[in-house]
Amino acid sequence: MTHPVKVAVTGAAGQIGYSLLFRLASGDLLGPDTPVQLRLLEITPALKALEGVVMELDDCAFPTLHSVEIGDDPREVFDGVNLALLVGARPRTKGMERGDLLEANGAIFTAQGKALNDVAADDVRIGVTGNPANTNALIALSNAPDIPAERFSALTRLDHNRAISQLAARTGSAVADIRRMTIWGNHSATQYPDLFHAEIGGRNAAEVVDDQAWIEDTFIPTVAKRGAAIIEARGASSAASAASATIDAARDWLQGSPEGDWVSMAVRSDGSYGIPEGLVYSYPVTTHDGDWSIVQDLEIDDFSRSRMDATAAELVEERDAVTALGLV
Ligand code: NAD
Ligand code: LMR
Repeated sequence: MTHPVKVAVTGAAGQIGYSLLFRLASGDLLGPDTPVQLRLLEITPALKALEGVVMELDDCAFPTLHSVEIGDDPREVFDGVNLALLVGARPRTKGMERGDLLEANGAIFTAQGKALNDVAADDVRIGVTGNPANTNALIALSNAPDIPAERFSALTRLDHNRAISQLAARTGSAVADIRRMTIWGNHSATQYPDLFHAEIGGRNAAEVVDDQAWIEDTFIPTVAKRGAAIIEARGASSAASAASATIDAARDWLQGSPEGDWVSMAVRSDGSYGIPEGLVYSYPVTTHDGDWSIVQDLEIDDFSRSRMDATAAELVEERDAVTALGLV
């Protein structure tokens, strides 16, 4: 057994937490030989429910679960953490405007960014799942000046997985045969799932599909609006799949993307592909040992360009809104 890894999860008593914690504790992230110390953050009124979840974690007797600590103070919970999965966020409630939502989440991610800056381990990596994920990540990284911005990412892996699954179903191929899927931009309905660089068994996916109308009118909207379709069907937003994607993203970040493949991660733009520098924008990235690099030199045609720019424009609007609120 190696040294335990300290993993913080925020919003741990929520829906995603109820799946994520058990996957983390059972070794799905770090494998069977690395013990996990869970550090769970919740708001005070949810601590009692969280105690119940901890009882259930105990009852699983996971050999890889070293210990669990819970609390409502980010400075205590984040102390020495190597990985922080920021899942907890304020959902939009009736009568709430977009600006109200950004402001409510701004307060959460400002405080958590500052706490991580002060108390997290030197090697910390931070993944943001809570919505609006890209802009929440931007707020957190802006409030953590001592943590390199490359240590922050927002989750678009769920969109990436959704895109793979839709493509597999349409073409009758196996998920394992699909590589080089890309989600560009925001984790929102403006995201651009890109089939023009994806491959099925080594062949270009758009050529295999050979149906631009399906790509534009079915594939892209199905992937981009999948979150809303799940809310409509389930009466609650995606949880197990979001937890699974959160694990996939963190695992590949820490352990490396598969040879010959890449993954989608929303990271701070360095201006690649003409996207404004500083936005937290989803790109195709390869990862190695906790670092990522944006895949360069992909050819972008006019169709892809307009989709990539539209989702960037939405992120610029979100950035301007949180800048006006003094959050970044
Ligand atoms: P949920 O409402 O069931 O749980 C959220 C939890 O966060 C609650 O228990 C709440 O008490 C807690 N919380 C709120 N403020 C907090 C704070 N300041 N510190 C710590 N905890 C806090 O929601 P959920 O279904 O688990 O989803 C969590 C978030 O993930 C939502 O914002 C949701 O929209 C988002 N989400 C993102 C993706 C993605 O792909 N990026 C997918 C699904 C859901
Ligand atoms: C999802 O993608 O399932 C979540 O982000 C929920 C949503 O609001 O779309």
